Amino acid sequence: MSWKTLSREKEKMNDLFKIVIGLVLFFGLFSIPFWAGSSSGGNGPEIVVKEGTEACVESKEFMRPNHMHLLDQWRDSVVRDNDRVYTNASGKHFEKSLTKTCLNCHSNKEEFCDRCHDYMGVKPYCWSCHLSSEEQI
Ligand code: HEC
Ligand code: HEC
Ligand code: HEC
Repeated sequence: MSWKTLSREKEKMNDLFKIVIGLVLFFGLFSIPFWAGSSSGGNGPEIVVKEGTEACVESKEFMRPNHMHLLDQWRDSVVRDNDRVYTNASGKHFEKSLTKTCLNCHSNKEEFCDRCHDYMGVKPYCWSCHLSSEEQI
């Protein structure tokens, strides 16, 4: 190889290097919203709970798709059987109450329940009867 072709090869390598760096930077910056968002619930609104509250009645993975069914079960067993105590998967007890249990931890209904429901286009009709916080009693 002559000196000329060698330096042309070197230029090509340099260009390739620049392209690779460019691509790495581009995809790195482009993906920030994805990995930065994953710590706060990923592709939904941020979870808001009262300070100092521990885990939910069940795992987040269970609650996200099943909370409406759990609430239905709670209502049915309270109204039909007057059974007001829920025991979760790890043996902890909770009162089966929308206002006193769920909204005690998720005390900011607007920023938690409503924000996600608005985002998903869901409108639960519960609040014409149930209070959204105990302070309103
Ligand atoms: C003891 C406090 C507490 C109670 C009671 C409670 N939660 Fe939670 N809830 C939490 C916490 C803390 C999280 C976040 C869990 C996590 O990040 O792993 C959560 C998560 C959730 C999620 C998942 C949110 C998401 O973005 O995936 C839903 C839905 C939910 N709760 C609804 C309810 C409902 C409905 C009730 C009543 C049946 C309830 N919670 C009762 C503390 C509570
Ligand atoms: C992370 C998002 C998210 C959060 C947070 C959330 N929900 Fe929901 N909720 C949904 C979705 C999505 C549906 C509709 C599911 C369906 O149509 O099957 C729903 C449905 C419901 C329903 C049934 C409504 C109906 O008309 O069938 C009730 C009741 C309910 N949610 C209560 C709550 C309460 C109470 C909280 C706060 C403690 C809460 N949700 C927080 C996403 C959420
Ligand atoms: C027409 C009025 C009305 C509406 C609307 C309504 N409820 Fe109720 N709900 C009641 C009454 C009355 C009770 C019985 C209260 C008791 O015995 O403590 C009850 C009890 C419950 C209970 C158990 C006790 C408690 O304090 O939470 C749950 C859970 C419940 N309802 C969930 C829901 C959910 C979820 C919705 C919306 C999808 C809803 N309810 C809509 C009237 C209503």
